[in-house]
Amino acid sequence: MERLQKVIADYGYTSRRKAEKLIVEGKVKVNGSIIKELGTKVSNNDTIEVEGNILEKSNKVYYLLNKPSGYITSVSDELGRKVVTDLIDSNERIYPIGRLDYDTTGLLLLTNDGELTNILMHPKNELEKTYVARVTGKITMDELYKIKKGLKIEDRVCEVKNIKIKKYNKENDSTLVSVTIVEGRNHIVKKLFGSLGHKVVKLKRETYGFLTLDNLPLGRYRTLSLKEVKKLYNYKKTSN
Ligand code: URA
Repeated sequence: MERLQKVIADYGYTSRRKAEKLIVEGKVKVNGSIIKELGTKVSNNDTIEVEGNILEKSNKVYYLLNKPSGYITSVSDELGRKVVTDLIDSNERIYPIGRLDYDTTGLLLLTNDGELTNILMHPKNELEKTYVARVTGKITMDELYKIKKGLKIEDRVCEVKNIKIKKYNKENDSTLVSVTIVEGRNHIVKKLFGSLGHKVVKLKRETYGFLTLDNLPLGRYRTLSLKEVKKLYNYKKTSN
């Protein structure tokens, strides 16, 4: 038997402190009855419902990693190079959702949930990702306009949701630029700027849908909360 607030937190629903608040507010049911006492103990056989959500044990795991440079986005590498799963201590067979290049840093999700992977990777669901790139040279207004309008990269136009010049660095003649795209073609950001003659010398993914890196240090990871996972599932368009 364990305390209700601890069990709610262990499910990953929310923190223990917030679970206590939900209990006091009458938003938690055990076996169908509202429980407002904080000391209540529950067992594995009890059905717990929080804000209308029944908590279910699952072996699904979800990690948000701040990928460092020098890691392959894969679960193994035949050349023996370091892979992103080396950075995560998990008992489950996890894999990365999508890919970041060997030299790209930033937000990468890893999971063993195939259904969520399909949702997040499906182009129809238009998940926005924001990258911050340092590119060689100065990006002109004309180039900015062309990128916004949509440049054809290989056989398809790369739809850019947002692009902002953050800073031009005179000393090394490079530009820091932030770009938001939905698509997931390999090397797409490098190809996009490369098509205008700007080499990407540094690339970091800062956001993935609503998820951000916050202050997560490079090479570190955290697990996603149940609420975050639910929100990711909500990217599924009903027409799929
Ligand atoms: N676009 C790239 O060019 N590289 C990445 O790692 C991600 C997007």
